[in-house]
Amino acid sequence: MKILVVGGAGYIGSHVAREFLDSGHQVDVYDNLSTGSRDNLFPEEGFTEGDILDYPRLRDAMGLGYDALIHLAAAKAAGESMVKPEKYSLQNLNGTVNIINAALERGIARIVFSSSAAAYGEPKYLPIDEKHPTEPENFYGFTKLEIERILGWYDRLKGIRYAALRYFNAAGYDVRGRIAGLEKSPANLIPVIMETAVGMRQELQVFGTDYQTKDGTGVRDYVHVSDLARGHVAALDWISRNDKSLVVNLGSEEGLSVFDILECARRISGKPIPAKIVPRRPGDPARLVASSRLARELLGWEARESDLETLVRTTWEAYSRKR
Ligand code: UD1
Repeated sequence: MKILVVGGAGYIGSHVAREFLDSGHQVDVYDNLSTGSRDNLFPEEGFTEGDILDYPRLRDAMGLGYDALIHLAAAKAAGESMVKPEKYSLQNLNGTVNIINAALERGIARIVFSSSAAAYGEPKYLPIDEKHPTEPENFYGFTKLEIERILGWYDRLKGIRYAALRYFNAAGYDVRGRIAGLEKSPANLIPVIMETAVGMRQELQVFGTDYQTKDGTGVRDYVHVSDLARGHVAALDWISRNDKSLVVNLGSEEGLSVFDILECARRISGKPIPAKIVPRRPGDPARLVASSRLARELLGWEARESDLETLVRTTWEAYSRKR
C-alpha cells in the first residue's frame, strides 16, 4: 500500500515508518520537525516538511494517491497539557480535525491513530482492557479520547475506517540501531534516565517512593516502540480486510517500577545515574498495566521486545551512539 505517515520523523513515527517500509509498503512522511528530526528519515521515503495546522499544505501533501494514513503528530506531555490546554487543543484536536478532513477530501479512507492509555484515567481495575471506563485525568488524555470519538462519527457518517491504538508507555529504540534521532527535551522516565547517564542532566528525580507497589515507586507497562510499530501494520491490515474500525490496547502486560528501570540502566550503562527522591507528581497513578488480549486475538499481535533488558539496552545504545 501507499502510506502517508504524519509525524513520521518523530520518535514513535520513525519506528512505525521503518516497519511499514520493512513490510514492503511505500511510505512518505509529513512532519513539521518541531519534535521530530531529519535524522529519523529514511532514504526510501518521500518527505514534506509541513504543519498539520496548515490545511492547504496538508491537503496538497495528501493528493498523491494514498491508501492509508498513519497519524502520530501530537503533543504528548501529560503534565504540560494541564498548564497549556490551549496548546493541546490546537495541536491535537484542531490538527487532527484538519488531518481527517483533508483525508476525506483526498479519498483516503483508512487512518491509524496513536491513542493512549491516558484515555482511561485512574485505573479502576487491572489489567486495563478496552472495556475499562474512559475518564482521562489529564487534558492530553482527554484530547486522545475526543479524537477517538470524532473518528467514530466519521466512520458512521463518512465511512472512514480507523484503528485507534491505545499505547501504554512507549519506550526503547530499534534493536538494529537504525533510528538515529533522539527525542528533544523528553519528559518520560527512560529518556530522562539516559540523559542523566550521559551527563546531560545532573540527576533523575524519582517522583515518589510511597506508592502501594513492590518498591514504593510507580509501576508502568512499558512497550517497545518496535512492538508498537508492528501493531500499526497489523491494525491497518485488519481494518482493510474487515472494513471495520478498531480500538485496541497495545501494552506488554508487564509492570515495571521506576527502580527496576533505574537499576537496570545503571548496570547496562555502567554509569552511576544519580537519583533524588522527590514528592509524587500530581496525577500519577500507582500502577498501570494493560491487557493486550484483544490485540492478541484480533491482530495476532504480542509484545516481543518489551522486556526490561531490551527496553533499556536499546535506549542506552541510541544515547551512547550520540555521545
Ligand atoms: C504518560 C501518560 C501516558 C502517555 C505518556 C506520554 C498518563 C497516566 N500516562 O505516561 O498515557 O502516553 O505520558 O508521554 O497520563 N517518573 C519519574 N521521574 C521522571 C519521569 C517519570 O519518577 O523524571 C516516573 C513517573 O512518576 C511514572 C513513571 O516514571 O511512575 C513513568 O512516567 P512517564 O515516563 O512520564 O510516563 P507516564 O506519566 O506513565
